[in-house]
This record gives sequence, structure tokens and C-alpha cells, in this order.
Amino acid sequence: MLVTLKDVLERAKRGNYAVGAFNITNGLCLSPLLKAAEAQRSPVIINIAEISFEDVDIPRLYPAIIHSAKEATVPVVVNLDHGLTEKALMTALRCGFSSVMFDATKYSYEDNIRLTKQYADMAHSVGVSLEGELGVIGGSEAGEGVAVAANYTDLRKVRPYVDATGVDALAVSIGNVHGFYKGEPDLQFDLLADIAAASAVPLVLHGGSGISDDDFRKAVSLGICKINFYTGSSVSVFHALNAYMKELNDGYADMAAISWTMMNAFQKTVEERMQVFGSAGKA
Ligand code: 13P
Repeated sequence: MLVTLKDVLERAKRGNYAVGAFNITNGLCLSPLLKAAEAQRSPVIINIAEISFEDVDIPRLYPAIIHSAKEATVPVVVNLDHGLTEKALMTALRCGFSSVMFDATKYSYEDNIRLTKQYADMAHSVGVSLEGELGVIGGSEAGEGVAVAANYTDLRKVRPYVDATGVDALAVSIGNVHGFYKGEPDLQFDLLADIAAASAVPLVLHGGSGISDDDFRKAVSLGICKINFYTGSSVSVFHALNAYMKELNDGYADMAAISWTMMNAFQKTVEERMQVFGSAGKA
């Protein structure tokens, strides 16, 4: 069933687990993602970043995405990840997404509040949730990682930001980065605990790939309710395809077999993450 982010994250907060938001970057990812969620009886968030709209072919595929979410036997959120422009936010609302993230971190704190509130009001008026971000998470959703987070979330701004904007979830910067980590991730758990105490809404950890299972569990125990995950899925698909090609040894690979190799690897990774995040069995 298609549900809002607010709905799944409030349950996750009460139940002390996190729901995975898995980025999809083409239409082939949809089916293994939903199969994984149904196999694990887990809620799931289909994450589609604005920068992936063209790759996913949103204008043609959104009816299939929304229909599949509605028909699923587990709660499914269709979320615009890192919405950067009003155009993308409007497209997501018009296509029937149940959640949007507005990433205003390139603006000043004051403009972040002003714009995020404006879009949160707009999303809420049509029954859609909105995720905001405070602090800057380094790296790119589809690219290079960096050594440390660009700019940690300022604890003093958390409560005023949440109150002023009306966001339903808050993405934080506590040492997490998008893409590959250079060196070991160094999450600031004390800062996370303080942010969780100050925030009335569930917290989101972007840049999930590369974080150890123990650190995930600790972050969840301290208040993380949504974990964004992409690069790790990509790496498993790459390894699976690589192994398949080596096995073929220059033989012919049918397109269906290549697709299945990719889809099975993605499904397996998602199922493993759902177990670590604690959302398995919670649907
Ligand atoms: P990773 O690619 O590091 O898992 O991050 C994904 C993400 O945060 C998308 O918003």
C-alpha cells in the first residue's frame, strides 16, 4: 500500500527501527525492491533523486511506480530524494509521490527555513510528507565520497528549524557522507543523541553505504528512523555482473540473464539491509 513518510517513520520511531530508502536509478530496480520488501515483510521507501528523474524515465514510468506501490502487500513510500528545484517538487506531487525531500542546504539558514516551510505547506496541503535537511552532507548521491562530512548539523538550530518549517523528518549531518567513504566513517554518536533529544520529528541518515552493521544499529538505537542507501546496492550489482561475465568467459550473454543477475543482486542487498535496519518483519 502507498503510505506517507510521516506514517512509516512515526511507526519506526515507536518501534525503534529504521526504514531503508533505497535509491532506484532505472525502471529495472522497481520489481526487486518491492520483492525484497514483501519477502522480508518490511516497509520500504522507493527513493528517486531529482538527478535520476531522466534515468528512471519518470514521465513514462511514474504510473507503474505508483501502481506497484499501491498494490504491494507492505507499506511503501514513494519519495523524491534530494529535490533541488520547485519543478521537481511539483512533478513529484503531480505524479503521486507520497513524500518529497527538499534539499535547501545550498541556501543560508534563513532561506532554508523560508523555502522548506513554503514547500512543506504545499506538500501537506495535498497529503504528502516533506523531509528537510540541516547541515550539509558531503559527497554526491550518485558520485564521489569525501573524507568527512562537509558541515555537521548545528544542534542549536535543530529545534527552531523543526518548529519553524513543519518538516515531517529531518536529515542530519553527523559524519555521514554520500558515496564511497575515504577512510573509516566516523559518526558523531553524541551529537546524534543530542539532536534526537532536540528534534520532535524522526531523523534520517543519508549516505548509508560503507557504514558498519554495528554503527547502523547504534544509530538506530539513538533515533535514526530512515536510512538512505544507494552506492552499496550499486557495488553488489557490479560484483554480481562481473562474476557472471567471468563465468561466461566471452560467451554470449542474453539481455534477460544480465537483467536477472542485476535484479537478484539488488534484491539480496536490500533484504540484508532490511534485517540490519530492523525493519524486517515490521510490515
Ligand atoms: P549512499 O550512496 O552513500 O548509500 O547514499 C545514498 C543517499 O544518501 C541518497 O540520498
